[in-house]
Amino acid sequence: MIIVIDGPAGSGKSSTARAIADRLDIEYLDSGALYRTATLIYLEANRDEDTFFRLLNQKKISFYYEDQKFHVAVDGQSVTDEIRTAEVTGAVSEVAALPRVRSFVNNLMRDVVLDGIYVAEGRDLGTAVFPDAELKFFMSADLEERAKRRFKERKDQNPELTLKEVKQNIAERDLKDSKRQADPLKKADEAIEIDTTNLTFEQQVDKICSKIRE
Ligand code: CDP
Repeated sequence: MIIVIDGPAGSGKSSTARAIADRLDIEYLDSGALYRTATLIYLEANRDEDTFFRLLNQKKISFYYEDQKFHVAVDGQSVTDEIRTAEVTGAVSEVAALPRVRSFVNNLMRDVVLDGIYVAEGRDLGTAVFPDAELKFFMSADLEERAKRRFKERKDQNPELTLKEVKQNIAERDLKDSKRQADPLKKADEAIEIDTTNLTFEQQVDKICSKIRE
């Protein structure tokens, strides 16, 4: 069984999906983290596509959710923190636009959800990856609000970061993610839309949990 939450950067998908996984005691799957991991390998390959795809097929990517964190390892080495750097964030939409990368990540996800109950979050899960998902949500919020949230989340790790930079990165990624040819960021027709601009975190989690319990 799978519940999917799609939406743009900073709409609250990750934190909400994690809270739902904890409340309902189900598994959590962060598709963005897998695109970020592919991006890390792409950067390691110095952006050379042949080397990148060779490495991507050779390396073993493993992942699990524990203690409010989605952990990822490449060949047994944790990359959980490295995949969140500004360098990876700056390159991820370009890498995620490659159809071969998308099918690679989709296969990883489809394999793992065969076992257990999952809440998964991303950009195209309800439309392209899990079109038969039991329940689909699409989270959205104003760009300004999403940038503020992301800035608050990241400024401690990176004191040099500015709100303007965050807003620009989010806007650029949204544009690339929704304009790309391969499985763009898109709301599935039947997905329940949750605009979180004026909702508190508790309110958005409650709203989704009550729909799941229905
Ligand atoms: O958490 P944040 O909103 O920063 O993004 P993320 O969920 O970590 O995803 C990072 C990037 O991966 C997105 O900007 C997309 O380019 C890509 N992505 C995607 O193409 N399809 C998905 N299902 C999930 C992420």
